[in-house]
Amino acid sequence: MTRGGRPPLAAWYERHGRHDLPWRATRDRWAVLVSEVMLQQTQVGRVAAVWPDFMARFPTPEAMAAAGAGEVIAAWGRLGYPRRARRLWETAGQIAAGGWPDDLTDLPGVGRYTAEAIAAQVDGQDAPAIETNIRRVVERRAGRTLTPAEAAAASRDAGRPLTGRDRLLALMDVGAVLCRPRDPRCPECPLKPGCATAASPIVDPALGRRPRQPAYEGSFRQRRGRVLAELRAGPRPSHALDAAALAALVEDGLATLDGPLARLP
Ligand code: ADE
Repeated sequence: MTRGGRPPLAAWYERHGRHDLPWRATRDRWAVLVSEVMLQQTQVGRVAAVWPDFMARFPTPEAMAAAGAGEVIAAWGRLGYPRRARRLWETAGQIAAGGWPDDLTDLPGVGRYTAEAIAAQVDGQDAPAIETNIRRVVERRAGRTLTPAEAAAASRDAGRPLTGRDRLLALMDVGAVLCRPRDPRCPECPLKPGCATAASPIVDPALGRRPRQPAYEGSFRQRRGRVLAELRAGPRPSHALDAAALAALVEDGLATLDGPLARLP
């Protein structure tokens, strides 16, 4: 705590946090779930460009469940990893039919991080929700890699006196804005006191450990993406499409065969 002032992390977050991200304006469970599923594998800026229209189209689980899987896959657009769209539609169906489960990881596509991120943001629970940015912050502070339990304890410690939603978002923003993978802005960092690597951020336990996303150019994922983009425009004769990519999309429930035509499900 600075003498007579706000604690440094809280003051930094208030001034420099990414408060204008559209999903930060809501505490609606469904809206936050959709944002977190999109953010699992897609960059913040691309999600911010799509999420408002997507929510206008599917404002509730009931609205999404009433639409077909194909409509959700089409609206997913170019966010990538479209299996997430299919699973989100299945999740919507489960919630529409039976309500929200006590344990959100019972829903398709909802892992521990996503469940904790919703608990913190929507319910203000003191859930750690360690994602890539927060992991990098706490591992740099510690100067070593941390187990999930250690990372959770370290985030509580780094975030003090913030808890719940504010701690999650403040630490995430420190990671994204200051404690960046390549050129961390240590002089501006509110967590510099007590940070093991601030003096020599090259010594970085978090770098080089996790593989980056594989290259898209020339990949099978790109071939699937091309076929899906065609089907978004409407049904197409199967023989005119990349057969292996189409077969994989059918296998994943992202396309169906209708006589000689392939289309969204
Ligand atoms: N705000 C809430 N969750 C987020 C996330 N996963 N990435 C970026 N901003 C967020």
